[in-house]
Amino acid sequence: MLNENELWLLSFYRSSEISGSLFFGRLARSMKPGAIQKDMTKHFSDEALHAWYWTSCIDALGAKPIRLNSSYQDQYLTAAGAPSNLMEILGITQIFEKRVVNQYARHSQIEEIPTTVRETLSKIMVDEKWHIQWIHDALKLMEPEYGKDLIDRSLKRFWEADQEVYRKTTQEHEERLKHLAMKLI
Ligand SMILES: [Fe+2]
Ligand SMILES: [Fe+2]
Repeated sequence: MLNENELWLLSFYRSSEISGSLFFGRLARSMKPGAIQKDMTKHFSDEALHAWYWTSCIDALGAKPIRLNSSYQDQYLTAAGAPSNLMEILGITQIFEKRVVNQYARHSQIEEIPTTVRETLSKIMVDEKWHIQWIHDALKLMEPEYGKDLIDRSLKRFWEADQEVYRKTTQEHEERLKHLAMKLI
């Protein structure tokens, strides 16, 4: 039921969710007790569940996920530089989460996608919206410590890195995206 390009895209989502879960999971393990530790733990468990949703969705469509080595997140850290404190970690995550929601929302606008893909996208988007919300709130609480200016400047820097990674990714996978007839770019 899935063609090669569709399978690739769903596998790409699965792989990205796994990377997100591992990244946030390591952070959650190293954090001191408190509200951020709690939300970060919920966050990484959501991403792990999303990886399962995609795995199960691909399976339901009679296919097997393609193994992909590098994920969007890996390139992110290369483009933006490794975050040096918690505010930067949350900042880069915030920008990344917005990209993910945007991508899933665009995908779900395509009319002829299988029902199971549509259901998976809607289910995941509910969680992704919460991810953006809790990080937004946590960054607000950090204003007295880091200053609003510095937080805004950091977000701008990460946003620019995001644009660069997205441009590179879409160029690299241009052929596939074209075949998917997606209004992804
Ligand atoms: Fe996710
Ligand atoms: Fe997320």
